[in-house]
Amino acid sequence: MKYNLLGKSGLAVSELCLGTMTFGKAVNEADSIHLINRFVELGGNFIDTADVYVGGRSEEIVGQAIKDKRSEVVLATKVRMATSPGINGVGLSRKHIMDGIEASLKRLQTDYIDLYQVHVWDHATPIEETLRALDDLVSSGKVRYIGCSNFFAWHLMKSLSISEANKYARFVSLQPQYSLVSRQMDREMMSLCLEENVAVIPWAPLGGGFLTGRYSRNTPEEGRLTTKVGESSWENRALDKNFVILDALLEAAEKLGKTPAQVALRWLIQKKEITSPIFGISSHSQFEENMGSVGWEMPREIWDRLDQVSALPDDYPNRFIHKFRRPFE
Ligand SMILES: NC(=O)c1ccc[n+]([C@@H]2O[C@H](COP(=O)([O-])OP(=O)(O)OC[C@H]3O[C@@H](n4cnc5c(N)ncnc54)[C@H](OP(=O)(O)O)[C@@H]3O)[C@@H](O)[C@H]2O)c1
Repeated sequence: MKYNLLGKSGLAVSELCLGTMTFGKAVNEADSIHLINRFVELGGNFIDTADVYVGGRSEEIVGQAIKDKRSEVVLATKVRMATSPGINGVGLSRKHIMDGIEASLKRLQTDYIDLYQVHVWDHATPIEETLRALDDLVSSGKVRYIGCSNFFAWHLMKSLSISEANKYARFVSLQPQYSLVSRQMDREMMSLCLEENVAVIPWAPLGGGFLTGRYSRNTPEEGRLTTKVGESSWENRALDKNFVILDALLEAAEKLGKTPAQVALRWLIQKKEITSPIFGISSHSQFEENMGSVGWEMPREIWDRLDQVSALPDDYPNRFIHKFRRPFE
C-alpha cells in the first residue's frame, strides 16, 4: 500500500479509501468490523462514512471497529443531509453543523474527526457561515481537516478564496463522483484541484458495480443494478458510450491478467489528479478483489487507451481555449 498527502496538508492517506455506505445494511455488523480490521491489516488507513449512511448505523459500526486503533485511522465523515425532520435538521447552517458534529462524534465513539466533509453544496446557507462554523470546529479540536463533496468548481474556488481572506481552515479535499464512466469533473474541477492542490477522493469509482464485469449489454432486466438508484442506476450507466468503455476495460483486464474492478480502480490510482478512490463493497470477496488494485503498475499504453476511450468530447470552451495555448504552457 502506498500513501499520498491529502491535498495541501501533511496528512498521509492510503491510496485506497474504504467506503462504508453499505455497512449495517448489505454488510452486517460483524462482517463490517472484520472488513475494517482486514483493511487496516493490509495497510489501509483511510475510511469514509457519513452521518446519514444507514440512518447513522454506518458511523456506529465504524466507531466500534476503530476505537482500539483510533490514531492509526484517518476517519472521514460528512454533514449536510437531513438527519432530523425539523426545518433546521438539514443543510450547512452553523446550527446543523454544530448539532451534526456532536451526533457524529457520539456515534463514532471518538472526540475528533480527521476529515469533516460537507456532503453537498447548500444553496440556502451563505458559504461564509459554513466556513466560519467549520473553522471553529478545527480550532476547538473536534475536527482536524475539512473537505467538500459534490461541488461545482466555482463553489470550491469561492470557498478557498473566503478561507484565505479570513484565515479560516481551507478545504483540503473534494469528494466527487468520478470513474471511467463518470468524468464530468474533467470539465473544470480537475484542473482547479491540481492548481490549488486539493485532493480528489472519488466516490463510485466502480460506477456502483457497472465496471466490475458483472454487467453487459445482454444482462436481463432482473440482474441490472437492481438495488441501485440515482447516479448508479441502470438507466444512468447502461448507455452505449459506457458499454464501449466497458469493452475496453474488459480487454485491458484480459491483457493484464487482472479483474475489471482491479483495472478500473488502478486507472484512478495512477491518475495524477486522484489521491484515493473510495470503493464500496457488499461482500468479503469483493473487498479482497478490490484490494488487488494496489501493488502493481498498469503500463502507460493501456492506461492511455482507457483514458482516451472514456474522455469527454473535446468541446467548447476547452477546445477554444486550448487552441490559443502559448508554447510555454
Ligand atoms: N459523497 C457522496 O455523495 C457519496 C455518494 C455515494 C458514495 N459515497 C462513498 O463512496 C463509497 C463508494 O461508493 P459506491 O458504493 O457508490 O461505489 P462503487 O465502489 O463504485 O460501487 C460499489 C458497489 O459495486 C459492487 N462491487 C464492488 N466491488 C465489486 C467487485 N469486485 N465485483 C463485483 N461487484 C462489486 C457492489 O455492489 P452490489 O451491492 O451490487 O454487490 C458494491 O456495493 C461509499 O461507500 C461512500 O463511502 C459518497
